[in-house]
Amino acid sequence: MQTLNVDLGDRSYPIHIGADLLSQPELLAPHIAGKQVLVVSNETVAPLYLETLKASLADYQVDTVVLPDGERYKTLETLNLIFDVALEKRHSRNTTLIALGGGVVGDMCGFAAAAYQRGVKFIQIPTTLLSQVDSSVGGKTGVNHALGKNMIGAFWQPQLVLADTTVLSTLPERELSAGIAEVIKYGLLGDAPFIDWLEDNMSALLAKDEAALTYAIHRSCQNKADVVARDEREGSVRAWLNLGHTFGHAIEHSLGYGEWLHGEAVGAGMVMAADMSARLGWISRADAERATQLIAAARLPIKAPSSMTEEQFLSAMAVDKKVLDGQLRLVLLKALGEAVVTADFEPSALLATINESLS
Ligand code: NAD
Ligand code: GLY
Repeated sequence: MQTLNVDLGDRSYPIHIGADLLSQPELLAPHIAGKQVLVVSNETVAPLYLETLKASLADYQVDTVVLPDGERYKTLETLNLIFDVALEKRHSRNTTLIALGGGVVGDMCGFAAAAYQRGVKFIQIPTTLLSQVDSSVGGKTGVNHALGKNMIGAFWQPQLVLADTTVLSTLPERELSAGIAEVIKYGLLGDAPFIDWLEDNMSALLAKDEAALTYAIHRSCQNKADVVARDEREGSVRAWLNLGHTFGHAIEHSLGYGEWLHGEAVGAGMVMAADMSARLGWISRADAERATQLIAAARLPIKAPSSMTEEQFLSAMAVDKKVLDGQLRLVLLKALGEAVVTADFEPSALLATINESLS
């Protein structure tokens, strides 16, 4: 097992990464204050891993909520199912919520923990690669609104993140690639040597090689933990973590959420960010091509859906959370391994990038 720390003063917490962590009660016990635990999972993950987790929680009152599976259930209505059980089973302010699932379960369980009795402790047990390298770390929690994704939420840090690599054995290939998109993101935005490693080890990652996965998760979490420690509430550098996301969200929004996985849209979005950075003369065309090849090697899309239009991109990007005072800001690359958030670009470069991706 490897452990690293998210350094946030008295809200710091460990991330444990390794095989078979779910069945090690001693990893959980130090982070559960009271006698009550409420496990939040979903109908896909619970049949696979809930019993193993419950066996590790034998010393506690354990109640469970099994949510329907899917991004479309990431709503305030579904959140109420968690509050219903917490109240019916009389969970006190000393309870600990545990998220067992991918990013959808983790974001909802975290938000429920932030709101239940004005805030209780929670633990993240992420079960997708995407949630192990991104959503379980850093304390962003929340649900979607009909008018926007992740628009209702809170910053609420967990007590512990337990990234058990064994559970990835059942993860579908498409979900694995979507997680690798976020792994590649860390290389492109701030860790050039990690790009070299990913080029050499992409086949091992796609084959779910245990050592390769553990290394990639650890290095990704280290990168994310460093950024979050510098800027927990996204006043500055945390926005780098959205590399490719403004383009990607436009794709997800235009196709309808769920058509492409988030990581797939981010893959095509990062190709667009690299292309635009090359058009602005910030990185070479060869570097943009290198980023594109790495994303393609992860079996991710490198072009936007051909059904989309330039207008769809522009209107969806106009409502991005990074729009400030009506001005669109994008995360682009000053070099491979060096992200920047900027509004300083010619609109013609953006239009050329969109049309290149649609061609
Ligand atoms: P997800 O939670 O929908 O999981 C993907 C699918 O895999 C689901 O069907 C799930 O049931 C299934 N699954 C999960 N673990 C499995 C396993 N071990 N074996 C088999 N199937 C398994 O999607 P995701 O990609 O994990 O997360 C996406 C969500 O994360 C989005 O809602 C996004 O907004 C959010 N997110 C949040 C942050 C953050 O910082 N909080 C960052 C990135 C993404
Ligand atoms: N996934 C982006 C962030 O955590 O800020």
